[in-house]
Amino acid sequence: MPSLSDAIRAALLTGDPRSKVMATRKLVRDWRMGRLAGHGDTPMPDKPAWPDYLELLPPGRMPKRRRGGSEQTRIALWHSLAHIEFVAIDLALDMVGRFGADMAPEFTDDFLAVAADEAMHFALIERKLRALLTHYGALPAHGGLWEAAQLTSEDVAARLALVLEARGLDVTPATRDRVEAQGDRQGARLLQRILDDEIRHVRMGVKHFTKWCEIHQESPADHWKTLVARHFHGTLRPPFNDSARLAAGLSRDFYTPVA
Ligand SMILES: [Fe+2]
Ligand SMILES: [Fe+2]
Repeated sequence: MPSLSDAIRAALLTGDPRSKVMATRKLVRDWRMGRLAGHGDTPMPDKPAWPDYLELLPPGRMPKRRRGGSEQTRIALWHSLAHIEFVAIDLALDMVGRFGADMAPEFTDDFLAVAADEAMHFALIERKLRALLTHYGALPAHGGLWEAAQLTSEDVAARLALVLEARGLDVTPATRDRVEAQGDRQGARLLQRILDDEIRHVRMGVKHFTKWCEIHQESPADHWKTLVARHFHGTLRPPFNDSARLAAGLSRDFYTPVA
């Protein structure tokens, strides 16, 4: 019987998007059904596999997202969201594979649930791209999205701090409203679903981060700020979606003084 870390490593090293989605769903199901032999200690890859046809651009060279309602602009939006969700699958899997064995069992269950959600988000957006007669990989994608993961591969608290950055909570409502205003109600509903799930994901991050801080006798908000300063210098900028952040358990003292 393979272990959970065997299955996660294999899913991380799967570059084909649909195969990665399927491998993720299967390993989450297998874990829940007791069909995997414990955590195991198979090491995680430094970098997950992504489609070989996907052109990656350095952050500064990504074309600016435009706000208009042209077909091209809409495709660019959904494509960039597809990439974010695709990388989110790897982030959740890597979280479990790298740190799960040393954390409470709930940690593994929670982040496997996140991985399954991200696989679903990606699949729904991929379907959206198909409806727009295109696909993931048709446009270049942001090549820097794994950097923060690599910077935090030694430290579970820093990796959890990344989850608490919660940028999606701030930007998704405006994107949803814009999509709705352009007459795409199905797209707006999809973004609302993603936002609702994301609030839960951040809440899980807050829960495990807070637990870690209790064990290590750190103040969560202060430790978080220290980690942000150390690892993601200057990435947190207002405006913040206070109500979504609060729903996720992020009180203002987590992020106000950083901004
Ligand atoms: Fe997601
Ligand atoms: Fe998420």
